[in-house]
Amino acid sequence: MASVLVTGSSGFVGSHLAALCAASDLKIVGLDLRASGHTDMVCDVKEKALVAKILKENGVEKVIHLAAHIDAAESVRKPLKYLRNNALGTIMLLEAMRKSDSKEIVFVSSAAVYGRQEEFPILENAPLAPVNHYGLSKLLAERSVESYHESYGLNYTILRPSNLYGIGQNDAYAGVISRFVDAAIKGTAPVLHGDGSQTRDFLNVKDMVEALRAVAMQKGKNATYNVSFGKPVRITELLETVQRIAGKNIEPKRGPKRPGDIERSELSSEKFREAYGWKPEVKLEDGIGELLRHYKTAV
Ligand SMILES: NC(=O)c1ccc[n+]([C@@H]2O[C@H](COP(=O)([O-])OP(=O)(O)OC[C@H]3O[C@@H](n4cnc5c(N)ncnc54)[C@H](O)[C@@H]3O)[C@@H](O)[C@H]2O)c1
Repeated sequence: MASVLVTGSSGFVGSHLAALCAASDLKIVGLDLRASGHTDMVCDVKEKALVAKILKENGVEKVIHLAAHIDAAESVRKPLKYLRNNALGTIMLLEAMRKSDSKEIVFVSSAAVYGRQEEFPILENAPLAPVNHYGLSKLLAERSVESYHESYGLNYTILRPSNLYGIGQNDAYAGVISRFVDAAIKGTAPVLHGDGSQTRDFLNVKDMVEALRAVAMQKGKNATYNVSFGKPVRITELLETVQRIAGKNIEPKRGPKRPGDIERSELSSEKFREAYGWKPEVKLEDGIGELLRHYKTAV
């Protein structure tokens, strides 16, 4: 099989994907702005000529595009940063692919393209109404991917994951699960934004990278899929679950609702399950238990 280029290979999902591929026979070339053990090329996806050269020299047929800025709240304050990097960055990558012999892109979008919805679970054909520039940048990138298929025959798969969590998601903007787990271990008070009645549909990163592997192994079907666990949880319920598993009381600080946050998220991934025979395996309780064990040892 010709090689697969993964952008964002130093990030949370990228490093899990690289580790999974290293343990199988899927050869990948990692590209990221930041150096790491999973990145072969330190490069910006917006550097079109350099990316085209990398694609050619490595005989890359398929690109899994993860590289992005991912902080929805920051995108409210810095819309241009998000449009430039995520939307324009994807178009620059598509141009580099057009100039080389790459035939297919797997674009990792986000459930943020849906914004606020009225009907649940959300299906792929729901109206797209992002409420922040992170979601908008992903929507523009999706449209560009479809347009390169239309105009230049580039095959594609678009995945719209729900909220991901797992080991390694420890940046400042890490998901709420990592923040609650960290608070349980260190005895600190995490911020609970709003009244905690918001729901999120959490998917473990291990299930996410299995979804990516399934897509990488097959020819793109030129379609868009949700990827989620499909079991929404209130943030207050999540807090109780972390407390129960950790056997510790967590006293959160109340904070204002975050700008650009949505109330309810619940996706159906039936379409993806049917197309690829994928199904999420990691139950939330098990994923949280693993995080607690991992970070307790690390402290
Ligand atoms: N983490 C989640 O909950 C979640 C949910 C839905 C979708 N996604 C999507 O999955 C993808 C991966 O997310 P993640 O959680 O691993 O994020 P991350 O921030 O951990 O990793 C992103 C990586 O992309 C790199 N990057 C950013 N801009 C770049 C550029 N211009 N050129 C080269 N590299 C660049 C960063 O250096 C970083 O290593 C993103 O596209 C994100 O939008 C993530």
